[in-house]
Amino acid sequence: MSWFYRQIIRRALFQKDSEAVHELTLKVLANVSGSPFLLNALASFYSPEPRPIRLWGLDFPNPIGLAAGMDKRGIALPAWAAMGFGFCELGGVTWHPQTGNPRPRMFRAVRSEALINRMGFNNDGAEAFASTLQGWRSSELWPNHPVGVNLGKSKITPLPEAAQDYAKSLDLLWPLADFFVVNVSSPNTPNLRQLQDKTALDEVLDAVQMVNQRHAITASIPAKPILVKVAPDLSFEALDEILELSLSRNLSGIVATNTTVTRPPTTNLRTRRIYEETGGLSGRPLRDRSTEVIRHLAKNTHGKLPIIGVGGVFSAADALEKFAAGATLVQIYSGLVYQGPSLIKEIVESLEP
Ligand SMILES: Cc1cc2nc3c(=O)[nH]c(=O)nc-3n(C[C@H](O)[C@H](O)[C@H](O)COP(=O)(O)O)c2cc1C
Repeated sequence: MSWFYRQIIRRALFQKDSEAVHELTLKVLANVSGSPFLLNALASFYSPEPRPIRLWGLDFPNPIGLAAGMDKRGIALPAWAAMGFGFCELGGVTWHPQTGNPRPRMFRAVRSEALINRMGFNNDGAEAFASTLQGWRSSELWPNHPVGVNLGKSKITPLPEAAQDYAKSLDLLWPLADFFVVNVSSPNTPNLRQLQDKTALDEVLDAVQMVNQRHAITASIPAKPILVKVAPDLSFEALDEILELSLSRNLSGIVATNTTVTRPPTTNLRTRRIYEETGGLSGRPLRDRSTEVIRHLAKNTHGKLPIIGVGGVFSAADALEKFAAGATLVQIYSGLVYQGPSLIKEIVESLEP
């Protein structure tokens, strides 16, 4: 199946603009998501044997998840479970709706199996997102796996007001998802990554945890897991500062990593031209740096803080490498584009039952 995807389907899809294919695929999956019959058909192709894991009081059918950015609006939520994922991270969602950067803003570097994107958090805003999630919850099509939401900062919100921007989105979405990821590492919102600095991040996490606690007390249930997603471009010292906050601000984990603004060396002219595009690079060239960051985080927390490993997972071996480095869960984005949906089953079934 993977061969069929790579040789036939991918060839056809890659003739078209990257974002156009992405939109078309999501539209198809959104349609499938509305039909229990089609969802069952999808699951009969792709659903893997279970490899259950329990984390944060949540039951994951398997530890392989969909990374943020693939389904920013949550329109294909039931389809991700049918494709075999053990969890998904929807979004990035921002408090204000925003159109993102001008197109084209998503590029394939096919030879190096990478993507470059500068989407800029294009999304319909937290209110529209909440109503989509509410719709799935009341439709009985809500998946049997944990659902996370990736929270971004609205572009129009000035940096000093970032904490409240995140907090407002969480306030609205808190009852609707199982865990939340504070994304301070996207390279495509001006100055966003400055929020990875200790003082700024502390302020954001303080505001977010306040909302988390308030909801938990009102609902008489435990607070929800809050994670921070980090850039692969941070130094180990900067990562350690974030780890210090993970204790004081009660973080449940780290998502490592987002896309990189660096570019690997290449002699290929076509690849070099694509690498000149502004934005974050994901896919195969990100794999090793992402694993290095995971290993560092795991070592410095003595394996006690759960890490979601993401970056360049294209095979079962890549996923195993992330687990060996210290990840508890693993996510995929670019691997899905380059290898097709059978990758999920291939990875899950390679894991020890
Ligand atoms: C088009 C695109 C959009 C993305 N949007 C987001 C986003 O909104 N929030 C986020 O935290 N990460 C986002 N990411 C980053 C991915 O979640 C992931 O961290 C990164 O792509 C590395 O994984 P990969 O090599 O498997 O693609 C995006 C990635 C791509 C390619």
